[in-house]
Amino acid sequence: MHNKDCVKVAVRVRPFNKRERDAGSRCIVSMVLSSITIQDPRDCQNSRSFCFDYAYWSHSGFTQDCGGLYVPEEPGGRYADQDSVFQDLGEGILENALQGYNATLLAYGQTGSGKSYSMLGYGPNKGLVPKLCERLFQAVKGSQDTRQCQVFFSMLEIYNEQVVDLLSRGSRTPGGLRVREEQQRGFYVEGLRIVPCESSPQVEQLMEQGTRTRTTAATHMNANSSRSHMLIILQLQQIFSKESITKQSNVNLVDLAGSERQRSSGSEADRLKEGTAINLSLTTLGNVISSLADVAMGKKVVHIPYRDSVLTKLLQSALGGNSRTVMIATLSPADICYEESLSTLRYAERAKRIQNRAVVNESPTERLVKELKAENDRLLHRLTRLGQEGHRTSNETKELRQLLTHNELQIRAIQTLWEQHLQEALKDWEQQYANITQERRKMQMHPYILNINEDAQLSGVVKLFILEGEWDVGMCDSSPKSISIKGLGIQERHAVFRNEQRRITLTPLPGSKVIVNGVSVSQTTELQHLDRLILGSNCTYLFISYPSERSGDDWSRYDYDYFQSELAAAQGIHLGESSVGSDQTDPSLLAIFYDYVKLMPMMAEANQMSQELNKGVEFKLEIKNLTLSDSKGRDLEKEIVVRVTAGAKKQVWVWSKAKFVNRKFLMEEVYQQHHLERSGDNVLTRTDEVLPRDRDPFWDPVEPLLLGTAHLWLQSLAFRIPLEEQLEVLGSEGTEEAILQVQLVPCNASGLVLGEDDILIDPSELLDRRLDFQLVLEQCCGLRWIREVRSRGVQIGFRLLDCSQPLYTPAVWHNVNPLLDHKVHFASLHTSQRLLDYLQSSAVVLELWGLQEGCTELESSLEGVRMTAEGVFIIEEADPTDPAAADSSELCCSVRALQQDLEEMKNINASLRKENHSLREQLSAARNGGEGVRSRAVRPSCDAEFARSLKVFYQSMTSVRGQLQRLRRHRPSDDTNLLGLRLFVTEQSCLLKDFSEQLEQCVSTLKQDVAAIVRRKREQAGNWS
Ligand SMILES: Nc1ncnc2c1ncn2[C@@H]1O[C@H](COP(=O)(O)OP(=O)(O)OP(=O)(O)O)[C@@H](O)[C@H]1O
Ligand SMILES: [Mg+2]
Repeated sequence: MHNKDCVKVAVRVRPFNKRERDAGSRCIVSMVLSSITIQDPRDCQNSRSFCFDYAYWSHSGFTQDCGGLYVPEEPGGRYADQDSVFQDLGEGILENALQGYNATLLAYGQTGSGKSYSMLGYGPNKGLVPKLCERLFQAVKGSQDTRQCQVFFSMLEIYNEQVVDLLSRGSRTPGGLRVREEQQRGFYVEGLRIVPCESSPQVEQLMEQGTRTRTTAATHMNANSSRSHMLIILQLQQIFSKESITKQSNVNLVDLAGSERQRSSGSEADRLKEGTAINLSLTTLGNVISSLADVAMGKKVVHIPYRDSVLTKLLQSALGGNSRTVMIATLSPADICYEESLSTLRYAERAKRIQNRAVVNESPTERLVKELKAENDRLLHRLTRLGQEGHRTSNETKELRQLLTHNELQIRAIQTLWEQHLQEALKDWEQQYANITQERRKMQMHPYILNINEDAQLSGVVKLFILEGEWDVGMCDSSPKSISIKGLGIQERHAVFRNEQRRITLTPLPGSKVIVNGVSVSQTTELQHLDRLILGSNCTYLFISYPSERSGDDWSRYDYDYFQSELAAAQGIHLGESSVGSDQTDPSLLAIFYDYVKLMPMMAEANQMSQELNKGVEFKLEIKNLTLSDSKGRDLEKEIVVRVTAGAKKQVWVWSKAKFVNRKFLMEEVYQQHHLERSGDNVLTRTDEVLPRDRDPFWDPVEPLLLGTAHLWLQSLAFRIPLEEQLEVLGSEGTEEAILQVQLVPCNASGLVLGEDDILIDPSELLDRRLDFQLVLEQCCGLRWIREVRSRGVQIGFRLLDCSQPLYTPAVWHNVNPLLDHKVHFASLHTSQRLLDYLQSSAVVLELWGLQEGCTELESSLEGVRMTAEGVFIIEEADPTDPAAADSSELCCSVRALQQDLEEMKNINASLRKENHSLREQLSAARNGGEGVRSRAVRPSCDAEFARSLKVFYQSMTSVRGQLQRLRRHRPSDDTNLLGLRLFVTEQSCLLKDFSEQLEQCVSTLKQDVAAIVRRKREQAGNWS
């Protein structure tokens, strides 16, 4: 019987995690019945609703009962616990399996969204898989008199398109197990261990074993578990002897890799696309789902790409085939996960359209039994007929009887095979059970270290006991007195544990990395209960001391994040306890902090891989734009970048976070391949070739690098005052990269420099008039970039106003103090108010670009640039939408106050002019033309005086601005102990005092000058009248 079944889709929203709570995240997801709405956090008008078969609210309204179970706060509350999810999804799958249908359950969602929580569960909060097994065996037991059931369990992982048998007892097959195809069976994994099971504790134990294999494989191969897919396959065979029907069903339970892996490949412009294999399964799954959704919508689809990846081959029947399929899409409700959550919902919506055709299955084995039984019936019938007809020949009868016996033996063999398998599995199980019991007993007697993994599901799986005596810890596993640990950066003999008189110490051996509670150690260190150890690049363990030292503390808070935050804190990157979670925490800073903590272990691993593969490449995390600001002096958005330095030539690249993450995966691939080849058991794929550069994730073509910026403020131009400056070029993190000598020279249209007489008192005089000036880049001094490596060069880039493309100076090479001697003439033909505002509030950001041997120099693109025939650049008006400076810091307030003073002064000036004007009128009315000459002579002299004071004022303002910049850069040093903080505060107060004194001085000088000018003017006016 054919049935058309749509894939059933459920969504589930988990609680905020610690990171989201700390960041003060907002919940952007709401649910009504089975519909879910997600709101764009940047635009609250923009929301999208989706409707699914089930929607589970597991975000709020729950409490933990005494057994550790998460349950609704009040009976009938909206919180969906593990039980209610199982009621809907698990029971349906079980029902289907018992009816003889294939069934599949897929968990899809971004990393950390709760896939494993829903599928496997944590501690007492058991997920769908264990609950399903429990119920399955209950059902089997409950119907023993009507049917005979056989359950087989297998567990595998698909990592990088390789199938790893998680229950395998032997060593790992290099290159993974093969996926084969058979007409009848479809795709299957050849040689996969299939274990017969009789009870749910047996299944749970197998799952524990599988998780352990997954954990060790992940650390040994330096593989990230969130990139792998985990598949549990339950095969159920049922024999209904009365009805002589047999049914067989396969239940696939799939915990997919984090969905962001699928998206990240396309989003980042990297020379190297993400590893061919890394995302292949997830991407192909997406393509298959899309094609099948199109089929369901009636579109013509020529090809469904099942065969493109291992996962889709194995799930072929689950998708558009013979299976009843359920997908649970898990979401984070936090605003910071909006993009990922929306993408998950869209994916789930497509999956909802897929139509399958499930049938009740008959397996070949059962058919064989049936056929044999039928043949026996026929044989018996013939025998009786021969007997009745009386012409039985002894030969024929003998032959028939032999056939009958043979068939019966075969039937019995098939039936006893199951029992034999079961016996074997039972023996195996007992052995495993004994091991686990022994481990549990040891845990109650001895100290040990417990693995902590990035994937919470794999944490606490490995326990390494430190019995009395001295123990070598490292890669070596030959010595009986050793504890074997494999992983990146772990040496043959890495460190020594000593357990003497119930004191446990750890002594790092020379050249090995050991970190205890965030701090690198090289001496013997006594370990305390719950100390955090990081061995090698990133093998993280929690130390559990003797039971007498263990108080009933909660160890779960020492998760992977805790280890990494502690390490970052020790390196000076931390958020004060008070700021975490408080309303004042700047969300962008929090994001930087979490990125840093996330990337730090990856960077350690990348460095280790580079070292082991002899790449000579070094990775370092940096905060981009930590001290840099835009043309208005506003802080630029900060982000974590990775500085990559290679080889003796010291080539440098700066990679974005996304690019680094992508490259890190590719490095892992290269590294794993290298290990496979080195282990020698993979003779077939052994290649000693050096990786060609265009495929090498540790390499990139060299490019110009932004070393730092300097600000040249344009204010003086509004008064046509020339400006000569020595600017400090600051690197991203506040280092001094160079000193730049520059000038801003007001000139006329033909480039002739203007004199003091052309200085303006009121910039509005420029309105609608032409303004010409030259930007002169004279010299660069003390170039750190070139001091480091002589073969390098630099260029300066700058852009004015709305210019979309920057202009660059010609490149200068090999010189620490190169002369630039670069002059550019700019002109505004009709100066507008907006341009004046721009000049008075903005700076030209001069970018220092570093060139490296072999890289292409930067060229000014003149496309879209307006120029006169004489080569004068015409500047456009400033962007009207540009918001006003929005810095609210105290210091900026002072600058703003200063600007107000300036405005006031302008008003005084305007009223003076008015007064002057009326005085002149009075004069001319009262006296004859001869005295008019005198009055003309007065104005320029007063105005010139005023202009001169303004010039002095602006020049002193430049130094005030420099002081302000210094203040903004001034931060406490990394070792912020109390003393350090006190020193910092004292320094800061001194700087502030200096700053305010300078500011006061500037303003009061200007005020005095203006007052003197006003007084003189009045006196002169008085004299004349
Ligand atoms: N419904 C829920 N209720 C309570 N806690 C949850 C829930 N869902 C997830 N969590 C918690 O969130 C964390 C991450 O969940 P989980 O390990 O299931 O993520 P995942 O999607 O499997 O991630 P990965 O792709 O890295 O494997 C775990 O600590 C888990 O306990
Ligand atoms: Mg998981």
